[in-house]
Amino acid sequence: MLKLYVIPAMLLSLAVISCNNSTTEKAAAMDNKTERKWWKEAVVYQIYPRSFKDSNGDGIGDLKGLTGKLDYVKNLGVDIIWLNPIYSSPNADNGYDISNYDDIMKEFGTMADFDAMLAEMHKRGLKLVMDLVVNHCSDEHEWFKQARSSRTNPYRNYFHWWPAEKGKPPFRPGNFEVDGSGWRFDSLTNSYYLHYFSYKQPDLNWENPKVRQEIYAMMNRWFKKGVDGFRMDVIPFIAKDTTFPVITQKDLDEKYNGRWDVYQASGPGLHSYLQEMNKEVLSKYDIMTLAEGAGTTKATAMNFVDPDRKELDMAYHFDGVSLGYVPGFFKKMDPNWSLTTFKKIYSDWDSVFANKGWGTVYLGNHDQPRMVTRWGNDAPEFREASSKMLTTFLLSMRGTPYYYFGDELGMTNIKFDKIEDYRDIETIAEYGKVKNAGGDLKGFIEDQKNGGARDNGRTPFQWDAGLNGGFTTGTPWLKVNDNKNEINADAEEKNPNSVLNYFKKMVKLRKDQKDVLVYGRYTLLDKDNPDVYAFTREDGNKKVLVLLSFRKTGGTFNLDKMQLGDEWINNLQPLKVNNNVVTLQPYQACIVQLK
Ligand code: NOJ
Repeated sequence: MLKLYVIPAMLLSLAVISCNNSTTEKAAAMDNKTERKWWKEAVVYQIYPRSFKDSNGDGIGDLKGLTGKLDYVKNLGVDIIWLNPIYSSPNADNGYDISNYDDIMKEFGTMADFDAMLAEMHKRGLKLVMDLVVNHCSDEHEWFKQARSSRTNPYRNYFHWWPAEKGKPPFRPGNFEVDGSGWRFDSLTNSYYLHYFSYKQPDLNWENPKVRQEIYAMMNRWFKKGVDGFRMDVIPFIAKDTTFPVITQKDLDEKYNGRWDVYQASGPGLHSYLQEMNKEVLSKYDIMTLAEGAGTTKATAMNFVDPDRKELDMAYHFDGVSLGYVPGFFKKMDPNWSLTTFKKIYSDWDSVFANKGWGTVYLGNHDQPRMVTRWGNDAPEFREASSKMLTTFLLSMRGTPYYYFGDELGMTNIKFDKIEDYRDIETIAEYGKVKNAGGDLKGFIEDQKNGGARDNGRTPFQWDAGLNGGFTTGTPWLKVNDNKNEINADAEEKNPNSVLNYFKKMVKLRKDQKDVLVYGRYTLLDKDNPDVYAFTREDGNKKVLVLLSFRKTGGTFNLDKMQLGDEWINNLQPLKVNNNVVTLQPYQACIVQLK
């Protein structure tokens, strides 16, 4: 079975992390030269527009609905909204298949709605980051309609073709396809075309300068409208070896750690394309860019974000969210995933950007299950504490936090009982693969409940306890979670101890203490502690200790010579210390200043 995003934990290289604060390290902390930027200090709030707020009763979230909820977003204290794609799309992959980059998806509204939304965001001091999906477009985009019409059409070379007279093309994986193939035969011109995702998402040919110019012009048009940045979908995939050589499993294993995503990405030309894009577009505006780092590794990530190279600003990796899946199964969560590996992953990635470049941190997004179900504990007695603990982690790490809408309420996986409830192309295709192989379909559905089915994180936002959680007056495109009566924004706004109010406090703390919590040096402590994630942040003036219990049994942490000062935030009772040992309650989180 081929999976692009599921990377066995054992393949992740693990660097050694020092736990001692040597004098040199302290000196480095004091002269941290990282250039200060608004996007480093920001908290990004990701909104899946289809599921945020429906204004017209068609069961689909829309731009007018979103605009009406901007005060809620502003009140969270966040700075930037990242919106998943809102361009015209037949929605094979919920907007990641774009049929017109210059228009708005019908279900979401009109360009006038967009302009009004952007103006309202800017009025509130909120910035807007759009999704840029340019590895592929939709097979319903005019470019592709033209291209497939004949071998001599001027748009033919906008895509990758393999004439059938050469035989079958060498295997390339296609995500979201039951047969797993990234090539689709198109009888009209007796050729195959390449699609790394579904056949509805043909890959664009970046080797063609006309394609690049079309994309840069389109980006310039959006920047002229006033958008504040782009999150770049699978950007390392834009460049590939277009001779499409045969690759053996042995070569894949030996040279690419068995990872198709690494092999398929970062082909010749990638960084010259990004430098060209920077010159022709990005450098002209005060905006931010984020590379979705599919197929990148710790060794290659810096090439995207090294300021001297003039490419992009930030990158995000998949190592963290790929941890803990059972090999051989589709996104089945191992309940005994290793906290020590989790700590190593985030610490290693921190060290990649310790002196240069800038990283990001996230635990949930529209491709992931809900963070509390996956990394915390969504049982009623632990849901609130563990949601707050995970929020503490995200907002006390270095790197810009990308926080997924609904996690601030502690929303959980919906845990569908049947495939008919799912809408996501990926889960439906994976189910089809199991079915065709005569596999365990019941087991598949069970695995997705706590596992990675993307619809778990895409259910409608829970505004209140009313009809459909206040999301729509119609029939929601994806079911609303039954727990909307307990977990909703309305109830949580009124409760000072809610997950929501804790999130707001934590955002404020990060901003008030930005020298330490945004820019300060990060050092992992007690790396082998299996229950507690402990680290310090320091800026030369202040030093804080962050303690996070990831277990329903709590945990202990030995302070050694450290002396505790004021607690900056704590999701449960004040810390209990005995003989220099802190005993943490289940899922306790605390940031405490050190003397
Ligand atoms: C990554 C996006 O986050 C995901 O939702 C999408 O399906 C693929 N790229 C293809 O565009």
